[in-house]
Amino acid sequence: MLPSRRLAVTLLAAILAGGAAADTQPGAARQRELVRLVRQDCGSCHGLTLKGGLGPALLPGALRDKPLEALRYTILLGRPGTAMPAWKTILSEAEADWIARRLVEGFPEER
Ligand code: HEC
Repeated sequence: MLPSRRLAVTLLAAILAGGAAADTQPGAARQRELVRLVRQDCGSCHGLTLKGGLGPALLPGALRDKPLEALRYTILLGRPGTAMPAWKTILSEAEADWIARRLVEGFPEER
């Protein structure tokens, strides 16, 4: 990511978050839906094992150095001009945050 773009993402994140971080965890049933969504829908571009495809790898090693807010807002807003779509119509901020955190630590398997 270009430095200016990273700054823009960080600023946008700060503005949108308005200090109130996404702190409400999705419930257990919704978490299962989110795991399924990521494995199936995100996996169609990022690879079924998330090791990359049309989109880059979403494994802990690849995401380790990326700020959590940047990941969260990439998920919510997409990356205009690339194939990465915005998910804000179906994911809340808290859900995007939950997904970003799980990706960084190693995404759970579908149960
Ligand atoms: C239609 C294809 C497509 C789908 C579906 C898709 N992505 Fe992406 N995604 C991309 C591409 C392409 C990029 C790289 C964009 C760029 O060049 O900056 C990307 C980038 C990302 C990044 C940033 C990675 C980084 O290293 O900075 C994250 C996080 C991400 N996607 C998560 C998701 C999640 C979570 C989903 C499902 C909710 C998803 N994506 C669905 C194509 C897709």
